[in-house]
Amino acid sequence: GEIALEGYEHYMQKEIAEQVDALSTCMNGRIDLAGSRVVLGGLSNYLRDLARVKRIILTGCGTAWHAGLIGEYLFEQLARIPAEVEYASEFRYRNPIIEDGTIVIAISQSGETADTLAAIEQAKDRGAPVFGLVNVVGSTIARTTDAGVYLRVGPEIGVASTKAFTAQVTVLTMLAIELGRRRHLSQSDAHGLLEDMLNLPEKIAKALKLSEEIKRIAKANIDQPNWLFLGRGLNYPVGLEGALKLKEISYIHAEGLPAAEMKHGPIALISEGMPAVFVATQSSNYDKIIGNIEEVRARGGRTIVIASEGDEQIADYADHLIKVPEVREPLQPVVNVIPLQLLAYHAAVLKDYDVDKPRNLAKSVTVE
Ligand code: G6P
Repeated sequence: GEIALEGYEHYMQKEIAEQVDALSTCMNGRIDLAGSRVVLGGLSNYLRDLARVKRIILTGCGTAWHAGLIGEYLFEQLARIPAEVEYASEFRYRNPIIEDGTIVIAISQSGETADTLAAIEQAKDRGAPVFGLVNVVGSTIARTTDAGVYLRVGPEIGVASTKAFTAQVTVLTMLAIELGRRRHLSQSDAHGLLEDMLNLPEKIAKALKLSEEIKRIAKANIDQPNWLFLGRGLNYPVGLEGALKLKEISYIHAEGLPAAEMKHGPIALISEGMPAVFVATQSSNYDKIIGNIEEVRARGGRTIVIASEGDEQIADYADHLIKVPEVREPLQPVVNVIPLQLLAYHAAVLKDYDVDKPRNLAKSVTVE
């Protein structure tokens, strides 16, 4: 049957708000805090082998690929397993090299994306075990993979993915912590991360309160035709996702980049008033990103900065400042993406576009 809007104006708006509960459900029963372990039922028979793999290939399309890039960073950082994300549409035709000890993780909200399915077939033909992170229960990808983890976020109707993205990242984080535990990650580090994970829904609820403030920022910059989204480390894929959201529903041209790459070309684009959204929360490369913000400002760009709540120095660098609740660095993506989802949402509403059914796009692309 039809999913009710329950008082919201758009499904996307509802799905952004639902992330508080959706992530609780996604983590429910999967975090054993006392044991500092993660319990992923669908993978329980495989976790021992997974912790010994030589290489993880993540694959997907669109927003799922962005989640995969976050997974790449987390598997490296927390589990010290070499990992790389591949666009499913490229991987399927690349004659990929898959050696013994490589496993593939396919990420898909719908579980029906044609390119992702073809990448899975390609990997299976070459003998790699393939695991799925899928939302739709019983979907083709869920049935085609060897095993997997469901996202448990309920139906996502808005074409622009929101709650499925944060759940994909949440599952990848849980998996990286558990694989880390089976390798070198200490019990106390794992415990701290898992404890913080359980608090993520509450942090997201706080971030959602930024909505009106972000609407004002959207309004002040809505006539700008080109936007940049910049971040370093884990905030780089967050920026990519922010740029994609803006493109998808507000039809504003936006580009996401690792902030340091700007100087190798895109900085030439900066002109008076051009918005540059920096995801600059507390992290190991915080000082570096401050330098990048200064580079944009010196050229007349308008800086919209997402920073940590406790950061007292960054206001000097921001034309618009958005402060998000603090969490440990590996867990920041799911909190930091919230203001970017809201920014795209408000921009599309201000432009009076069809938020839930943007032109030229489909919720799931089942043809090549
Ligand atoms: C379509 C949607 C995107 C989505 C991508 C992958 O292009 O418009 O929002 O990220 O497909 O979808 P999937 O269902 O595989 O996650």
